[in-house]
Amino acid sequence: MGKIILTGDRPTGRLHLGHYVGSLRRRVELQNSGEFEKVLIMIADAQALTDNFDNPEKIRQNIIEVALDYLSVGLDPNKSTLFVQSQISELCELTFFYMNLVTLSRLERNPTVKAEIQLRNFESSIPTGFVCYPISQAADITAFKATTVPVGEDQLPMIEQTREIVRKFNSIYSEVLVEPDVLLPANQACMRLPGTDGKAKMSKSLGNCIYLSDTEEDVKKKVMSMYTDPLHVQVSDPGHIEGNTVFTYLDAFCKEDSFEKFWPDYKNLDELKEHYQRGGLGDVKVKKFLNNVLQEELAPIRARRKEYEKDIAGVYDILRKGSDVARTIAAQTLSEVKAAMQINYFEDEALIKAHIDKYNA
Ligand code: TRP
Repeated sequence: MGKIILTGDRPTGRLHLGHYVGSLRRRVELQNSGEFEKVLIMIADAQALTDNFDNPEKIRQNIIEVALDYLSVGLDPNKSTLFVQSQISELCELTFFYMNLVTLSRLERNPTVKAEIQLRNFESSIPTGFVCYPISQAADITAFKATTVPVGEDQLPMIEQTREIVRKFNSIYSEVLVEPDVLLPANQACMRLPGTDGKAKMSKSLGNCIYLSDTEEDVKKKVMSMYTDPLHVQVSDPGHIEGNTVFTYLDAFCKEDSFEKFWPDYKNLDELKEHYQRGGLGDVKVKKFLNNVLQEELAPIRARRKEYEKDIAGVYDILRKGSDVARTIAAQTLSEVKAAMQINYFEDEALIKAHIDKYNA
């Protein structure tokens, strides 16, 4: 059997550089590698509603934004299936059946869920749908028999939960579901890209994001005001690399030819870091270089977005068609799941015959 990718994002806002290095960039490479039989990319609106149930408008407005971001980074509807989670009702059915295989205490122990509960002040009143979202995520992944789930590190507990459900289902019923592997970003900088203020994570509420759809000027402004090394006051002072956002971004974005193109004074990032640590290199110069590196990466993304923005109806059509394709695949898995659980009564001729015999004996 060929390898299958399933991954997705919650449509709670436009996608930013954290999404990009954490997963989007990799997805496009995988899509173009030809190694996968299917690539499915899901806009997880139903999951987003588990903690935004009182604000469906926010989700509704952001589906098109995420779709535009997907297309603009190079996800290609001819190679990948882009679809909307809530339109695949089969996922809810799978979730309902998987709920029997997971204990409440197991869900409450999930570190990602735990952190999110704290963040949202849900402690005393956790919506049931919210604690259960790891189960629904297992449904997302298994419905398509995904072998490979490219996500950021924060999603590891979700994949672990999925693997447990798969093992339990297969051992109780029969070998229908596929245990997925997680595919994490290649390096630490990509794993958790900090916000422009140096805080642990890019997050809309902290206002520390660079969005894929930001203008050239916005990106430049954000880069020039980025958090660096508070101890690097004079240019001549030795600078620190650890925790220095500008260098973390360079780790995530520098390419082999970036120096040759934009800063031939240095051969590579190691050389630049060495000079910075030694002292005598000002932040502004490094930021200008980072800006060039980022603009080179973002310019084609911005341009592609502009093109798709001219045909919004077409983008909705891509999602509609993708959702039709996804539904067909999920329906097939659901029917296998129901057969394995022996709840396919009307197709179960042996059962019907046995009951006829029982009452006609
Ligand atoms: N939980 C993911 C996030 O917050 C989104 C998501 C939902 C997902 N279902 C998924 C990711 C299935 C991978 C596979 O970003």
